[in-house]
Amino acid sequence: MNIKDLLSSKTQAAMVALGLPADTNTAVTISTKVEFGDYQINGAMAAAKLLKTNPRALAEQLVQKLDLAEMAEKVEIAGPGFINISLRKDWLAAQLADAAQNPRLTLGANPKPQTVVVDYSAPNLAKEMHVGHLRSTIIGDALVRCLEFWGDKVIRQNHMGDWGTQFGMLIAHLEDKLAAGVDLEQVALADLEDFYREAKKRFDDEAGFADKSRDYVVKLQSGDAHCQKLWQLFIDTSIKHSEEVYQKLNVTLGHEHIKPESAYNPMLQPIVDELKAKGLAVEDQGALVVFLQELADKEGNPSPFIVQKTGGGFLYATTDLAACKYRSFELGADRIVIFTDARQALHFKQVELVARKAGLLKDHVAYDHCPFGTMMGEDGKPFKTRTGGTVKLAELLEEAVVRAQAVVEQKSSDLSAEEMAEVARKVGIGAVKFADLSKNRTSDYVFSWDAMLSFEGATAPYLQYAYTRISAILRRAAIDEAFTAPLQLLEEQEKQLAVKLLRLEETLQAVMKEAVPNLLCNYLYELASQFMSFYEACPILKEGIEPELKNSRLMLSILVARTLKQGLDLLGIEVMERM
Ligand code: ARG
Repeated sequence: MNIKDLLSSKTQAAMVALGLPADTNTAVTISTKVEFGDYQINGAMAAAKLLKTNPRALAEQLVQKLDLAEMAEKVEIAGPGFINISLRKDWLAAQLADAAQNPRLTLGANPKPQTVVVDYSAPNLAKEMHVGHLRSTIIGDALVRCLEFWGDKVIRQNHMGDWGTQFGMLIAHLEDKLAAGVDLEQVALADLEDFYREAKKRFDDEAGFADKSRDYVVKLQSGDAHCQKLWQLFIDTSIKHSEEVYQKLNVTLGHEHIKPESAYNPMLQPIVDELKAKGLAVEDQGALVVFLQELADKEGNPSPFIVQKTGGGFLYATTDLAACKYRSFELGADRIVIFTDARQALHFKQVELVARKAGLLKDHVAYDHCPFGTMMGEDGKPFKTRTGGTVKLAELLEEAVVRAQAVVEQKSSDLSAEEMAEVARKVGIGAVKFADLSKNRTSDYVFSWDAMLSFEGATAPYLQYAYTRISAILRRAAIDEAFTAPLQLLEEQEKQLAVKLLRLEETLQAVMKEAVPNLLCNYLYELASQFMSFYEACPILKEGIEPELKNSRLMLSILVARTLKQGLDLLGIEVMERM
């Protein structure tokens, strides 16, 4: 159910009947103030200009043509021609009765399922996954869950960085470690960061090691069995590290979704040949470059996009062109969404331009690079350890659970140690995720333990707690979420809660369109807050409440609980019955 769309299509029909073009903007919005009703139609003003008539008069004509009797209890024209609509309580109750039966809650059918490739997480396997990959992983995973819930076909792709010259030095170092009898699991890759640093130091300082590393790059690229084996060993161990983090984070990325950079190797030469043949790539100082006039600087110099290095090596960029072709032609994507930090914005603009010129993307395919800002420390600088190192994701998540445990222990009384540990895990991980997901995607944000673990304001603990409150009510009433009863919406708080419940689809649409999970976070926070006001104003289990009213309010509470649980699940956040 999408009330906004419904009003918009009704308005559109009325506009056409009044001689306006079918694509006239209906400008239906959620009302900014309760006094203005629930929704507004603001399209009369612009439409009146088109018809060269008085906007208020046009609004009146529109209202006459609009058949809203069934859904609206009040339709008012205000100001120069705003149409304010208050929905009928019985109509809202009927919509919610459908939702009570629907595993998709208030969501309608997806009229046109799309195939969407989502490229997210994508750590570089040469190094440990760090906080920089947190945002990509959880924002991407939230989008994926929303799209799937909506009914699109989603193909996850974890474009892991498993290729490039640094692997020469890493496998040369690994070889020496293994030869010295060091156990792979235990020492070599227990700390990837240290391992990388050691290898780099040898590369810079140790005679002969850099040459050996370069030799190993060449050998690796030409398929030498020994180097390949070492590389595979390294990659597999590094992937295991990432997968441990995925599991802690409760994300849906599995082994089967890994489509690493190296997977595109066989496609690279043919793509470069094609770019050359089409006259797009030209030789420049030994390298092959596509010059993009569209992205020229102020002086008019075109933006260079290198697709093959001097000496024949391919780049990150070449791989992304191959990925375009694969996703569009093999996977049949209608839309490709890629999450990386904002510093890669130019890269993806270049990739898209070149891919479109070269026909590596079918025309209808949307290519959405979704950049995100940096996670900052409370000192306002990019988030680092106290000694200035990169913060490892695995350690950060462990700390979150420890801190959550302390917070939950203060609040809870009657949980066993085991239950407490489970609650702490859900709260800790949920807090980190919600804090991130609730921020505007493209801005930098400050990472603050105290803010994210607070039970006040828009936080995971607040929402999880709201869910446990409803669970407690249901326990006291001796029912569960399967309970159903007819709804009657009497008080204003009940009506507002109903309208809010019916805004899930509108919210999800906006989230999916721009890949902005913060809108879902806001929605859930508002829903939980409205529930609290409802609960204060409308007694449920109090002595003397009529059974029909009590059951109706229980039903409304269940719909809120289910929506909270589902909504949090779309963010990859777990709930609990008690805390
Ligand atoms: N591995 C890259 C990084 O850590 C991100 C890859 C994103 N995906 C892509 N198709 N380039 O920055």
